[in-house]
Amino acid sequence: MTQKKDPRDISLSQQYEAYPYPERNPQDEKKRLFIGSPSHLNEIDYWVFGGKRSSEQPLRVLVAGCGTGDAAIMIAQQMARRNRSGEVVCLDRAGAVLTVVQERAKVRNLTNLSYIQGSILDLPNLDLGQFDYIDCCGVLHHLPDPAHALGILKGALKTGGGIGLMVYAPHGRTGVYMLQDALSYLAPIHDVPAKRLDVAKRVMRHLPKTAWLHYNKNFGDHLTGGDAGLYDLLLNPRDQAYTIDAFWNLLDQVGFKVNALIEPARYNPKYLIADPKIREKIDQLDYRCQAVVAEGLAGNMATHVAYVRKAEDDFSMADPYAMDSIPFMREMPGEVLVGQILPSNLLPFSFGMLTVMIPLPAQARGFLGLIDGQRSLGEIIDIVKKRGVPEEKIIPMWKETFDSLQSINQVFVRSS
Ligand SMILES: C[S@@+](CC[C@H](N)C(=O)[O-])C[C@H]1O[C@@H](n2cnc3c(N)ncnc32)[C@H](O)[C@@H]1O
Repeated sequence: MTQKKDPRDISLSQQYEAYPYPERNPQDEKKRLFIGSPSHLNEIDYWVFGGKRSSEQPLRVLVAGCGTGDAAIMIAQQMARRNRSGEVVCLDRAGAVLTVVQERAKVRNLTNLSYIQGSILDLPNLDLGQFDYIDCCGVLHHLPDPAHALGILKGALKTGGGIGLMVYAPHGRTGVYMLQDALSYLAPIHDVPAKRLDVAKRVMRHLPKTAWLHYNKNFGDHLTGGDAGLYDLLLNPRDQAYTIDAFWNLLDQVGFKVNALIEPARYNPKYLIADPKIREKIDQLDYRCQAVVAEGLAGNMATHVAYVRKAEDDFSMADPYAMDSIPFMREMPGEVLVGQILPSNLLPFSFGMLTVMIPLPAQARGFLGLIDGQRSLGEIIDIVKKRGVPEEKIIPMWKETFDSLQSINQVFVRSS
C-alpha cells in the first residue's frame, strides 16, 4: 500500500498537523532544557561511537520525525554549548511541528539546525547526503511499514554511524490498546481530529474505575500532555508496540546490530530477582533472552530505546581500563551520584516506577568524585592511591564501579 492511499496514514498526517506532538510552548525554552534518551550527546559519543570519535570531527545529525523538537533541541543545544561543529537536520512531514521547533531554536539562539518538511520515505530523493547519527524516536511504530522506513534510514547513515531508536513496548502500555480499540468505533479515523478528540475527552471523563489505564502509572501523556498527548496516546490511527524480541527481529531483518539497550541493566533480570537458583538460570541465557525475561518480569516497559549500527560495520569501544582513557559522566555529576549511594553501598536506581538496588564497591565514592571528563583514569588512580587505597585493589574496584554505572547509563569512557 502506498503511503498516500493508506487511510490510517492520512489520519496520522492530519493528527500531527492539528496537534503537534509533544505539546510545547517555545517560551519555556527560557526555563529548561529537556534531556533524555535517545540522543543525549554523551550517549551518542559513547554508545554510538564507542568513545572513540574525536569531538573535533563535525557531527551531521538527522532527526527523522522530529515532532516539536525535544531531541533536535537537546542535541543542537549540547553541541552549541561544547562548540561542537556540525548540524542537526529536522525532518518531519508535518509543517506545524517544524514551526514549533524553529520557534524553540530561536528562543535559544541556536543556529545549527535546519528544517525539512518531508517524509522519511522520500529521504532518497531529498538530497540531504548521509548522516553520522540519526534519531528516530517514537516514529517507526506509527508507519505503515516500519522495516521499509528503517531500511531507508540505513541508507542515509554513514559507515561507522549509528541510529538512536525508540519504539513503544506493549506490557508497560497496558490499558492503552483496550481504549484505542474502543475509541476506534466511537471516534473513527475518518472523522476530523477535533471531533475525535472531543469523543476521547468525553470517554476519559466517564472512564469506569476498572479501566486498566487508571492503574497504569508508566506514562502520563493523557494526564499532563495536553490535547496532543491525549490524542497521541488514545487516538493514534496506527500504533504498533514491539516486545523486545519483536524489536530485535525488526533490527535483524533490516541489518542492524544493537550497541546498547537503554539502560542496559534494565534488561538484566538479575536486578529483578534475588533467588540464587533463578539467577543461575539467568546466567545461562544470552543477553537477548535475558532481555525477554526482564521485559516479562518487570511488566513496566512502555518503550524500548536502542542505539544500533549497521550489521556490516566494525565496532569497538574505548578500553575502560586503559590508563589514558577518560571517564565522563552522562549528565549527573559524580559527586551528586555519590550523594545517592546508601550507607550499605547500594545505589537506588529507578527504571520507571520500579526502583532497583545497584551494588557498588565502598570506594566507588572516591572514584566518582574525581570524574570530571578531563582527568584520565591514570590520574584518577594516582589520586586514589595517595589516599591510601592499596594499589592491587584499585583496578578491580574501578571495574566493578564502571561495569555497574555504565549499565545504568551513568558513567562512560572515551579514549584520549
Ligand atoms: C509521536 S511523534 C514523535 C516526535 C518526536 N520524535 C518525539 O520523540 O518527540 C511522531 C512524528 O513523526 C512524524 N511522522 C510520521 N510519519 C512520518 C513520515 N513518514 N516521515 C516523516 N515524519 C513522519 C509525525 O508528523 C510526528 O511529528
